[in-house]
Amino acid sequence: MTMLQTTSSTELFKSKIDNRTAQIGVVGLGYVGLPLVLLFSEQKFRITGFDIDQKKVEILSRGGSYIVRIPETDIQAAQERGFSATADYSHIAGMDAVIICVPTPLNDHHGPDLSFIERTAEAIAPHLQPGQLIVLESTTYPGTTEELLIPILEQKNPKGLKAARNGEAGSGEFYVVFSPEREDPGNDTVARRDIPKVVGGLNPTATELGSKLYGTIFNRTIPVSTPAAAEMTKLLENIYRCVNIALVNELKVLCLRMGINIWEVIEAASTKPFGFHPFYPGPGLGGHCIPIDPFYLSWKAKEYDFHTRFIELAGEVNLGMPYFVVQSTAAALNKQRKTLNGANVLVLGVAYKKDIDDLRESPSLTIIELLQKEGANVRYNDPYFAFVGRGRKYDLQMSNTPLEDLGQYDCVIIVTDHSDYDYEKIVRESKLVIDTRNATKKIQAENIVRC
Ligand SMILES: NC(=O)c1ccc[n+]([C@@H]2O[C@H](COP(=O)([O-])OP(=O)(O)OC[C@H]3O[C@@H](n4cnc5c(N)ncnc54)[C@H](O)[C@@H]3O)[C@@H](O)[C@H]2O)c1
Repeated sequence: MTMLQTTSSTELFKSKIDNRTAQIGVVGLGYVGLPLVLLFSEQKFRITGFDIDQKKVEILSRGGSYIVRIPETDIQAAQERGFSATADYSHIAGMDAVIICVPTPLNDHHGPDLSFIERTAEAIAPHLQPGQLIVLESTTYPGTTEELLIPILEQKNPKGLKAARNGEAGSGEFYVVFSPEREDPGNDTVARRDIPKVVGGLNPTATELGSKLYGTIFNRTIPVSTPAAAEMTKLLENIYRCVNIALVNELKVLCLRMGINIWEVIEAASTKPFGFHPFYPGPGLGGHCIPIDPFYLSWKAKEYDFHTRFIELAGEVNLGMPYFVVQSTAAALNKQRKTLNGANVLVLGVAYKKDIDDLRESPSLTIIELLQKEGANVRYNDPYFAFVGRGRKYDLQMSNTPLEDLGQYDCVIIVTDHSDYDYEKIVRESKLVIDTRNATKKIQAENIVRC
């Protein structure tokens, strides 16, 4: 009897996906959640977006956008297809699937800050319904879904519902999946649809339903056996990047000392048709993922008396890069018989990478602070940020400076290589250019120092 009922509820879920009547909720309408809303909406689903930030809800409700690369017209088109945003969690009860995309930053001790996931789970639990599919997308350490999310959902829902662990959900059960977000902001070389979606359910039916749901917006889904395997997959991807970037950052410092151009070397090595994937050096790591996620695993590994040496070493090398930029700047000024103390310095770019409006963990912020500490008069230019106020680790309170009269600065440091910059003009008009990104690679001039 139960078997018959549950089989049909699974079939019902699938048919709701097929005929687009499934109600999908996305919790956390940031860089990950909002694009996800739009993808489902394009596939004709009525989407409900949840966010505790009332300002974001208001902007979306009047058809606006707060992410530069998402035009208002996309939000308005989604609204016409039934998209609405709310801060009211009671609407969770009406959802067939709920996808959680809330932040997972580090705390002050470089450990995981899971308070956003905890608070989200606590807010969802009172409205949980039997048969609902709950998906976590936030990047986190292996074990979070089973050790943190599910216990809160189970303990704090008034109906006493449990996560389905053995096949089909019974009448008192809900489904749980972990499916990591793999987006690379600003990278338009791969369409979002073509990025395969990894899906790890608590049981095979959860994986099947998760794959069915994501199969509507992604060309390929990759089922894995457990939520922990999916959590670890995401971390492996980011640790791979973090370690390889550290490697080229270290080799860059050596190459500079040896008078070899690391960029030329990487370009030449990249011609090997197998066994080599290029990574590029820079002023340090930025963004919400690569500088943060590896530490989630290091933290968890300690529970197993395990020391993640590659992660620690990569972190050490990458964290040192902004200091290296400042040292190189001081050395370059010294050659001109100038000191960093009292120098007028313009930092180009505060976004953590080119052509995006995201400055989380940006190395520019550290570089600006270090320069100020050394007594430099620092200004910045970034077409994406009119003002930089207070963040997790900085408090700059600086306004964007127009990109003009470059001769007034003792030195201009290219930290973010935005495509809009006219590098020839910048080199021509500046006394000294410190290039941390190889943005001036086509330009030969005495006043360029690459570091
Ligand atoms: N940004 C990326 O490129 C990227 C890529 C891959 C993975 N991720 C991961 O995705 C997750 C989300 O990242 P993001 O960049 O979208 O973060 P974000 O800060 O841009 O957005 C998170 C949103 O969640 C909202 N929020 C916080 N607590 C909430 C709550 N209790 N209920 C409802 N809404 C709440 C915030 O107001 C914010 O709008 C993180 O775990 C991140 O590591 C991000």
